[in-house]
Amino acid sequence: MEFFEIAGGNRLKGTVEISGAKNAALPIMAACILVDGETVLHNVPDLADVRQMQVLLQRLGVKSERDAGGAMHLRVDDEMNCHAEYEIVSKMRASVCVMGPLLAKRRRAQVSMPGGCAIGDRPINLHVDGLRAFGADAELINGDVLLRAKKLKGTDIFLGGPFGSSVTATANIMMAAVLAEGRTLIESAACEPEVTDLANFLNACGARITGQGTPQVIVEGVTSLKGAEHRIISDRIETGTFLIAAAITNGDLDLPGGRIEHLRAVVDRLRQIGVIVERGEKGISVSSARRLEPVEITTQPYPGFPTDLQAQAMALLSLADGNSIITEKVFPDRFLHVGELSRMGALLRKEGPTVIIQGTKKLVGAPVMASDLRASAALILAGLVAKGTTRVHRAYHIDRGYERIEAKLAAVGASIRRLSE
Ligand code: EPZ
Repeated sequence: MEFFEIAGGNRLKGTVEISGAKNAALPIMAACILVDGETVLHNVPDLADVRQMQVLLQRLGVKSERDAGGAMHLRVDDEMNCHAEYEIVSKMRASVCVMGPLLAKRRRAQVSMPGGCAIGDRPINLHVDGLRAFGADAELINGDVLLRAKKLKGTDIFLGGPFGSSVTATANIMMAAVLAEGRTLIESAACEPEVTDLANFLNACGARITGQGTPQVIVEGVTSLKGAEHRIISDRIETGTFLIAAAITNGDLDLPGGRIEHLRAVVDRLRQIGVIVERGEKGISVSSARRLEPVEITTQPYPGFPTDLQAQAMALLSLADGNSIITEKVFPDRFLHVGELSRMGALLRKEGPTVIIQGTKKLVGAPVMASDLRASAALILAGLVAKGTTRVHRAYHIDRGYERIEAKLAAVGASIRRLSE
């Protein structure tokens, strides 16, 4: 098993290229099930989750390979298998994104229920109820959801759940609607930039989607889609992670590819904390005043503060000059990083979906355990500034969503190495 070893205390300085967005690439790859002919995707990040999606798509008859320039070419060459099995879905919840395309294109989808994970249980009721609204039958067989439909009829679908909208449910319903008969209106759709990117890709293939990026999305069904060429947007969560890396080390970074318009809630909070964030010619520049002010953060669906940056913000606020509060409104159990940050000296008190953070002067290096993708990033950020050496075990969590993070950090001055147990 691999782990990261970090010697704290270096200020980060320099340029970090932001990679393509994992959460745009995964549904867009799944959307290739819908199209005839070849699709070419540029800026697909080289991540474990992307490779996992390639394996799943291969089993579903979708071939994919990268050319010498890194562009990914995808093409359907067999529509027989419609079963996304537990051993893949349980490792990567984004596998659920094949449900809508399989049902729309092949009229059948058998997808394992994802089950719980480190950030909470991951229900898919909004996905299944939404797809049944098109006229599909759904039944549960051995932990799989089996959906079948003779045809899909466009309809009005309300996608609001107890924690707001659902990103991948919006993706699934949109991907089913593009080949349904007639008009579909999705009310309370997710507004994340990754959903907008998916809609733009589908429109490039001949779909007729409007309202993407707003809570009301309208889809006029078409009879077929053709493969297209598309460039994946940059990863706003990776961008936010490096903004916080600069802030926590009192560093100074340029982030070409970073899009400030996708991170307004995060930039607002960072500026309140005392971090200087500016639009650069090719992306974002960030530096920080030495003193960090305490703030309140509540995570919400986009355009609110993203839950995927909650753990990273907690690491930063552990060193603020005063008490901060973080409330998690999307995944209320997403706090496995609290125990690990406490091992490094953070003064944290969890009260239900809220954590009170008492700012402290310093963090101390320690062996810690990564639990989910973003919690791992938070522990690495804490290690960058902690006194002494930090070892973040289970590096595989990070590799799911960050491309070569140790190389990117080392290139701007971090003392970080990937080692094997
Ligand atoms: C997507 O997950 C992202 N993953 C997550 O990023 C991200 O944290 C999340 O959206 C929220 O922004 C991908 O896009 C691949 P949701 P998703 O459905 O779609 C509840 C990362 O680190 N819900 O928007 O699974 C759910 O329990 C990952 O990159 C239902 O109740 O999240 C949660 O409380 C982690 N019923 C809330 O909605 C449903 O049918 C939002 O979940 C579906 C969701």
